[in-house]
Amino acid sequence: MAQPQQSEEAEVPPLRVGMVGYAFMGAAHSQGWRTVGRVFDLPRRPVLAAVCGRDADAVRRAADRHGWAAAETDWRVLIERDDVDLVDICTPGDSHAEIAVAALAAGKHVLCEKPLANTVEEAQVMTRAAEEAYQRGQLAMVGFNYRRVPATALARRMVDEGRLGTLRHVRVTYLQDWLVDPQFPLTWRLRREQAGSGSLGDLGAHIVDLAQYLAGEPLAGVSALTETFVRERPLAGGAVKGLSAVSGTGTGQVTVDDAALFTGRFASGALASFEATRYATGRKNALRIELNGERGSLAFDLERLNELSYHDATEPATRAGFRRILVTEPDHPYLDAWWPPGHGLGYEHTFVHQARDLVHAIAGGRRPDPSFADGLQVQRVLAAVEESAEKNSVYTPIAV
Ligand SMILES: NC(=O)c1ccc[n+]([C@@H]2O[C@H](COP(=O)([O-])OP(=O)(O)OC[C@H]3O[C@@H](n4cnc5c(N)ncnc54)[C@H](O)[C@@H]3O)[C@@H](O)[C@H]2O)c1
Repeated sequence: MAQPQQSEEAEVPPLRVGMVGYAFMGAAHSQGWRTVGRVFDLPRRPVLAAVCGRDADAVRRAADRHGWAAAETDWRVLIERDDVDLVDICTPGDSHAEIAVAALAAGKHVLCEKPLANTVEEAQVMTRAAEEAYQRGQLAMVGFNYRRVPATALARRMVDEGRLGTLRHVRVTYLQDWLVDPQFPLTWRLRREQAGSGSLGDLGAHIVDLAQYLAGEPLAGVSALTETFVRERPLAGGAVKGLSAVSGTGTGQVTVDDAALFTGRFASGALASFEATRYATGRKNALRIELNGERGSLAFDLERLNELSYHDATEPATRAGFRRILVTEPDHPYLDAWWPPGHGLGYEHTFVHQARDLVHAIAGGRRPDPSFADGLQVQRVLAAVEESAEKNSVYTPIAV
């Protein structure tokens, strides 16, 4: 008897992925690549070709656990492999530029975790390389996965439909608490040479991207405060697991911000406020965004990610009020391929959706969204925040 699944698979060309880094994001991206072709109908079939780390035993174990066919210990070897079409970068920011530029030069598509780079200069080099590669048919995308939550994608759709009318406010916070203990060790996220910045580049990058994405326009300028609350910490004693780590001996200096607060102005005149911290005791991964326009408001909370709050100000005041939209209907973004209404999704699904969108962009030859140029623009906002904070919060325009 014919095996329709096998013959269909044979007709769909593969997209062979090589991933660098296999820890927190490596596990999340593996989940995305492994799952996407089993949930969505795709024009290319992702294949987990090879994963790269620096410790041979550990990377082999990671390959077995996450389903990668081969393991490499040098990313330069990985990007030259003939059986890799796309390089997925899941390493700390200090290696993003070097790996991405080399992978693009080697003829590969690239997916790079956020923030795109550690500096504006690196992000500019990456964006130029991505533009040249696009002329050769290669795509480069940055991993702002919170655009891929069905509720945030629905919010974007509703803004596009004009449900909010003229936008007045965007209010965003991204709150975690894993640094509250002053004895938490000095992991790479607390070192400027590896992470670029602290809460700002880690959490702030996400909320700047999400705010600009939902507002549909870039920020024009910012006024900022940053602070490093604990300036010396125990050195890390072993591998980082997720956001956790154990202390070793000795101490070292924290060289990044612990928290960043800033206000911003959009070119349209709308005002925005941002807060990014890892010291919000009790808040684990609380990304909250609210948009207020003349015709309505939208509010989203990542800790309740299957829901979107909407207030329609065009309704009679006697009936108007925030309503909770359960974003699990097949007509909601991404949800036609998932479970029946009410059977919610989670954090990991954003990586499945990210993979889906990139595969479609590659097959269609379309610029991916968010592109490296979008990542560069976020980097410019982060640089303006740091500049403003250094100058007593002076309003600092975003360089174009
Ligand atoms: N999109 C998100 O929600 C999200 C969440 C967390 C982290 N991130 C981003 O993902 C990136 C990685 O963060 P993480 O939390 O996965 O870090 P992690 O510490 O958990 O993992 C980093 C991995 O990179 C590997 N690595 C480092 N340098 C390498 C090199 N030169 N060659 C090969 N492998 C190398 C490490 O061995 C490790 O496997 C960062 O840019 C971070 O900002 C994004």
